[in-house]
Amino acid sequence: MITKTIKFSSSSTTFYFAYGISHLKDIVDVKHTIFIINENVFQQHAKHFKNQQTITIKSGEQFKTQATIDSIIKQLIELGADRKTTLIGVGGGVVTDITGYVASVFMRGIKFGFIPTTILAMVDASIGGKNGVDVGVYKNIVGTINQPSFILHDLIFLNTLPEIEWQNGFAEIIKHACIKDAAMFKALEESSLKKYQQKKKLLCFLIQHNALLKSKVVQQDEFESGDRKLLNFGHTFGHAIENTYQLSHGYAVAIGMAMACIISEQYQNFKDTNRVVELIKRYELPVHQSYDAKNVIDVMKADKKKIKDAINYVLLKKIGKAVVQSIPINQIENIISQLEAENSFS
Ligand SMILES: NC(=O)c1ccc[n+]([C@@H]2O[C@H](COP(=O)([O-])OP(=O)(O)OC[C@H]3O[C@@H](n4cnc5c(N)ncnc54)[C@H](O)[C@@H]3O)[C@@H](O)[C@H]2O)c1
Ligand SMILES: [Zn+2]
Repeated sequence: MITKTIKFSSSSTTFYFAYGISHLKDIVDVKHTIFIINENVFQQHAKHFKNQQTITIKSGEQFKTQATIDSIIKQLIELGADRKTTLIGVGGGVVTDITGYVASVFMRGIKFGFIPTTILAMVDASIGGKNGVDVGVYKNIVGTINQPSFILHDLIFLNTLPEIEWQNGFAEIIKHACIKDAAMFKALEESSLKKYQQKKKLLCFLIQHNALLKSKVVQQDEFESGDRKLLNFGHTFGHAIENTYQLSHGYAVAIGMAMACIISEQYQNFKDTNRVVELIKRYELPVHQSYDAKNVIDVMKADKKKIKDAINYVLLKKIGKAVVQSIPINQIENIISQLEAENSFS
């Protein structure tokens, strides 16, 4: 069990790594706690929530909406929640986003913490204080920035995590290695998904390392004026294909990272596309999706990172070192159309 407190500008978050959920009573007053739990996690780990006050939410991004928030708030009122209540979100990023948002607006803000149960939520979604919901096709368009009081990791939850969610989580881990950590990149090259699934200690260390890596990036740039933008590596092209081709987020980001490497060759003289592509494949993630270039460009143009006629693209200078570069849309259009024709990563 390791604890670590990260201070942000107006609050702090304590991490409880490798902590059994049974120790939760040492962190919060369980009598004044309400769990907001993903239904799959609740069904498969019910014994941990016996005699607790719980609100379950259905699985899927389509439930990350204001309607779900309203329903949770009604249930909180029925359960007698008040300003002393702590909300704990137990689930993947959908649940942590929803819980952080509800806790920030219910009675103008109550205490909250997270028990992330997907790798993606452990290393990414639960960290950084951005919480919110989708409205129609607009992802995370409504929300708050508010740090959780604590984040507890109990890897027991990963015993039931579907294979595709392991892959999705590792896409963000590979992203962290590409932008910030050449040593981790090398360690990943020497290992595999299977090894991490079998060697719990190794996995535990990797997850902690990535959670702290993201926390430090956020801590140094809470309001996204500098390094935090680097966390978007692979996400510009990724977001542009994610919904259109119904890819999981991790798959879309993996393909987006491969694309960003090709663009990095041209703009940053990046030489290691092959290593990145091989690493992505090693973690059972795709590097190519056939796409309609015009459609992708249209979605990219609507991307919030667009500034006038250029896109702020996160590129690699080398493995472990990323930069943000503004690239004119017409140039990106050329590259994407050319690569569509060449079908280059397949
Ligand atoms: N706030 C942020 O900074 C931030 C960052 C990244 C992603 N996100 C958000 O996170 C969400 C994606 O998170 P996610 O990938 O964790 O998806 P998710 O929450 O949808 O969970 C993925 C699936 O795994 C299942 N599941 C979760 N834990 C399980 C377990 N232990 N055992 C069995 N099944 C389990 C869920 O039922 C679900 O079907 C998106 O909404 C995204 O916008 C937010
Ligand atoms: Zn992501």
